[in-house]
Amino acid sequence: MGPLSAPPRTQRITWKGLLLTASLLHFWNPPTTAQVKIEAQPPKVSEGKDVLLLVHNLPQNLAAYIWYEGQMMDIHHYITSYVVDDQTIVYGPAYSGRETVYSNASLLIQNVTGEDAGSYTLQIIKRGDGIRGATGHFTFTLYLKTPKPSISSSKLNPREAMEAVILTCDPETPDASYLWWMNGQSLPMTHRLKLYETNRTLILFGVTKDIAGPYECEIRNPVSASRSDPVTLNLLHGPDLPSIYPSVGYYRSGEKLYLSCSADSNPPAEYSWTINGKFQQSGQKLFIPQITTKHSGLYACSVRNSATGKESSKSITVKVIGKWIPASLAIGF
Ligand SMILES: *[C@@H]1O[C@H](CO)[C@@H](O)[C@H](O)[C@H]1NC(C)=O
Ligand SMILES: *[C@@H]1O[C@H](CO)[C@@H](O)[C@H](O)[C@H]1NC(C)=O
Ligand SMILES: *[C@@H]1O[C@H](CO)[C@@H](O)[C@H](O)[C@H]1NC(C)=O
Repeated sequence: MGPLSAPPRTQRITWKGLLLTASLLHFWNPPTTAQVKIEAQPPKVSEGKDVLLLVHNLPQNLAAYIWYEGQMMDIHHYITSYVVDDQTIVYGPAYSGRETVYSNASLLIQNVTGEDAGSYTLQIIKRGDGIRGATGHFTFTLYLKTPKPSISSSKLNPREAMEAVILTCDPETPDASYLWWMNGQSLPMTHRLKLYETNRTLILFGVTKDIAGPYECEIRNPVSASRSDPVTLNLLHGPDLPSIYPSVGYYRSGEKLYLSCSADSNPPAEYSWTINGKFQQSGQKLFIPQITTKHSGLYACSVRNSATGKESSKSITVKVIGKWIPASLAIGF
């Protein structure tokens, strides 16, 4: 039931009502209206639900009530009004089809949307003698229950210290403030973190381990607050300089050689081994069951992270000496 489907009689009254309003402005006697209060019922309303803006302590002897969207009392913001004498409801240009005004001035808004949040002004018109009358107006801000936010990231896998990441707290919510948390605490003071635009956007200039998260954001308004799930950036880094274990390279002929290489890297590095510059094998571990003096040489472990495009390597010198076991002990072999 939109304004266009209203019966012709209602349309005519709209204009009459507006003219009446215009002529009655500016004559109100404030003390009698000081008690009027508007209250949302329920106080926390979610999108899709109904809310009643209850008006308390209305003065006596009223001629009409007019509800406006926002704080401007002009034709464009005119939602609906109730004319007491002939008990008619009048609709204005700001009527969405979901508002109902009652004879006690309360306004029901059904199936609220995010756009319904904001201020509403009630204008009440007091009966006067003839043309003389009076109006008063009362503004009320309707806050919707904040939705559970989520964090979107311009990059979930940034390369360490190389890329800026933009975190945004969604959705954009009117009349709300945004707060951020890292590791469950308020944001650390660092020039690498900067908040933008009502604090809904957080920019990380070059992500390092200490600012990779987890991040949470919160949307807060005077009636409610809700926090997102945590988001941790998967920092692509390394490989660091690898280390080889054991690092001591003296062996006797016939022993087994078992070397292990590791380097901090995300994602894990690819490993390969060379002996005297010649590719030996890939993998983190190098195993030779029985070495001889021919196995002496420079053993190098190379690590590579294709996500960061970085590589590194480490080498050790392996020296294999011949058996010197005395003949008497060697008998047992
Ligand atoms: C006004 O009328 C509505 C609808 O009948 C009702 O729900 C509400 O409680 C009334 N408000 C007051 C303040 O009495
Ligand atoms: C509530 O509004 C949404 C979108 O504004 C619409 O899809 C839905 O049908 C409405 N529900 C009712 C019960 O009017
Ligand atoms: C943004 O956050 C800063 C610090 O947390 C705060 O001082 C400021 O008032 C906030 N701005 C807005 C628009 O909420």
